[in-house]
Amino acid sequence: MPAGPSGGGGIVAGYLAPHPPHLVYAENPPQNEPRSTGGWEVLRWGYEELRRRLKAHRPDVLVVHAPHWITMVGHHVNCVPNPRGVSVEPIFPHLFRYHYDFRTDVDLAEAIVDEGARAGLVTSALREEGVRVDYATIGALHLANPDWDLPVVSLSANNNPYYYSDASLAEMETLGAATRRAIERTGRRAVLLASNSLSHLHWDTEPELPEDMGVERPFDHAQYAGDMALLQTIREGPTSRLKEAVPAHIEATSSETKAGSLTWLLAAMGWPAIAGDVLAYGTVIATGNAVVEWVP
Ligand SMILES: [Fe+2]
Repeated sequence: MPAGPSGGGGIVAGYLAPHPPHLVYAENPPQNEPRSTGGWEVLRWGYEELRRRLKAHRPDVLVVHAPHWITMVGHHVNCVPNPRGVSVEPIFPHLFRYHYDFRTDVDLAEAIVDEGARAGLVTSALREEGVRVDYATIGALHLANPDWDLPVVSLSANNNPYYYSDASLAEMETLGAATRRAIERTGRRAVLLASNSLSHLHWDTEPELPEDMGVERPFDHAQYAGDMALLQTIREGPTSRLKEAVPAHIEATSSETKAGSLTWLLAAMGWPAIAGDVLAYGTVIATGNAVVEWVP
C-alpha cells in the first residue's frame, strides 16, 4: 500500500468515543459558549489518556461515525473541505453551543463514497457548504482531539434505529469494510472514532446545577450490569465475540450502539483477534459511557 504523509498507511487504532455534550460542557473549551464548574471527571480523565495515545499513533486523519447525523436514504460522507459553524445540542442547548472550524480529508472522504458504492451501498457525498455538523460528530472529535490539528472524515448514520427497533447491523459491516479499503487505497494512517454511548435510558429531568454529581448514577442495576457484561467481553477479547454481544447488549440496554458506529469500527478493523483497553466508564444523565481503545 502507498505510504501516507506520516509513514505506513492503514488503520492504526480505533476508539469507542462517546459524545455526551455534558463532557464538553464540563471542560469549558473556548469554542463552547456555556460555562460549567466541571463534572464527570473520570470519563474526562479517560479521554485525556485517549488523547495521549492517539497522538502517539501519529495519524494523518480521524474518521468518525456518529449516530446523530441521521440520513434516511444512504450513507453520506461529508466532503466539504472546511466545515465551520455552530453545533447545538437540541435537547441541551444550554450546555452545548460549539463553534467549529475544521478541515476535511476530501480525498479519503470521496474514496469512502466510492468504495461504499462499489460494495453495493447507497452512498452520497455531502458537498453543500454550511450544513450544520451534528453534536455527536463534533463532541467525539473535540473530546478525542481538542487541538483540531488533524483532518477529519465524517460519516452519517443510516441504520435508522430510531425508526426500526430491530434495524440490522449488516450494512455497517459493509460500510466498515469499504472504509478500510478506502483508507488502504489512499495510504492514510487513520484513527477511527465510533461516537456511541452504551446503555441509553436516561433521566427526563435535570438538577438545577447540571454538573451536580450528587445525582449522577446508573439508570438502574440492569442497565449497569448490561454495560459491565459488554465491557468484560471487550476486555477479554477477541473482538469477534462482539458480533453476538453487541446485539444482545442493545436488546438489554437500548444501547446507542444500535446506530451502528461500533459495528462499523470493528468491521473496518477486520474484527481483530485482540482485547479492547477500557480507559474509563461513567454515566451521564444515567446513560452508560465507555472510552475504549483497540490497537490492531
Ligand atoms: Fe447520542
